Amino acid sequence: MSGNSGSNQMWGGRFAAGPSAIMREINASIPFDKALWRQDITASKAHVGMLGAQGIVSADDAQLIAEGLDKVAAEYEANGVPENWDLEDIHMTTESRLAELIGAAAGRLHTARSRNDQVATDFRLWVRDAMDQAELGLKQLQVALVSRAGEHAESIMPGFTHLQTAQPVTLGHHLMAYYEMIGRDRSRFADARARMNRCPLGSAALAGTGFPIDRFRTAEALGFDAPTDNSLDSVSDRDFALDYLMAAAQCSLHLSRLAEEFIIWASQPFGFVTLPDSLSTGSSIMPQKKNPDAAELVRGHSGRIVGCLTALMITMKGLPLAYSKDMQDDKPPVFEAASLLALSIAAMTGMVAEAAFRTQRMRGAAELGYATATDLADWLVRQANIPFREAHHITGSAVKLAESRGVALDQLPLEDLKAIDARIDERVFAALSVEASVAARASHGGTAPVEVRKRVAQARVALGLEE
Ligand code: ARG
Repeated sequence: MSGNSGSNQMWGGRFAAGPSAIMREINASIPFDKALWRQDITASKAHVGMLGAQGIVSADDAQLIAEGLDKVAAEYEANGVPENWDLEDIHMTTESRLAELIGAAAGRLHTARSRNDQVATDFRLWVRDAMDQAELGLKQLQVALVSRAGEHAESIMPGFTHLQTAQPVTLGHHLMAYYEMIGRDRSRFADARARMNRCPLGSAALAGTGFPIDRFRTAEALGFDAPTDNSLDSVSDRDFALDYLMAAAQCSLHLSRLAEEFIIWASQPFGFVTLPDSLSTGSSIMPQKKNPDAAELVRGHSGRIVGCLTALMITMKGLPLAYSKDMQDDKPPVFEAASLLALSIAAMTGMVAEAAFRTQRMRGAAELGYATATDLADWLVRQANIPFREAHHITGSAVKLAESRGVALDQLPLEDLKAIDARIDERVFAALSVEASVAARASHGGTAPVEVRKRVAQARVALGLEE
């Protein structure tokens, strides 16, 4: 424990000075919270406008500060935000530059506020924008889904359960399933936005302030519905960020499932789709390869987005009221999730819009695998009044026979079908085609082209594509 350097002998090798260098580094949030600079300027301008209007600072100082903030913003816009760890974060960086530009009056900006309510406000504004952007991007994805679904309302493909051929469905129906999922994602972002749109500014460090501030005025200036109602809650609440991440995580699961479909469909044994060149890559060793990397990365990114949600949940779970410095770590996971989500939405929108669906291959696959076996059973119930369980058994025998001969159900001679059950007659063949199978499923929300077209039409209205 000697020496004058101040550097710790055990672990100080990389430090010029002692613990203060570590403190500086661990404390600095400027490397990531500089992303909040626009929100920080906007919220500070709202705050100083209110301070001026309430006579808490003079009108002259308020004006000087507001103009100074505009100058700082112009500098950030032109040159980026300088990263000085000594200034810790975007809030102190901005205030310190403001002081260099306008002098002592800059010191009045922080009257009746704290960085605790300041960061809570800035971050809310940022997350609110991210929610709006997600909502907008997802709407574009829905537009792409609906347009391809309309094109393929009659294209027949195998529908799967357990990834085993189950019953024929239409590609339009399959795509519209994702329209529904993405619609729920949009509503989750919209719900979260409505819930979070309250302004914490003016809660100060934790207890409110003795200055005669007008929190309704700042709330309104920043586009919030109202101020928050409890100052302790206001500075320690990050529910809005968690709500965003929960919506993002669930959305990313949907995007990942869609990506997975494209990956499977693009594989050679399936051959259901040719991916757009613009969203694929080649192999450096296998010249024939065209890899679905964008879809695979969307699938991968969902894991990271879920990780971001987990990270912030664990950060928040043990914190007593009010602010604790742990909460500085709230931003990286949200920023990371937001950029991964935006990329994922854009990639899947391009994929859906530009993929070339190989409808002949899909149809051919639907004809294999006895996808219309349920139609035979349903026919026995309807035409021969056989209980469904018995019809299921009879159909099983027919499938077994067809399989042993390597033919489709509708290629079995009538006599052989009759030998299995005498109540079968020649009308059965009309029910066994894949077209008849999908057309029959016209129950609400079913796969019949008529139902798919109906839902596509409703969706086009909901998306504002049609009156
Ligand atoms: N850099 C901090 C953060 O991002 C700002 C709030 C600091 N407040 C405090 N009491 N030290 O959370």
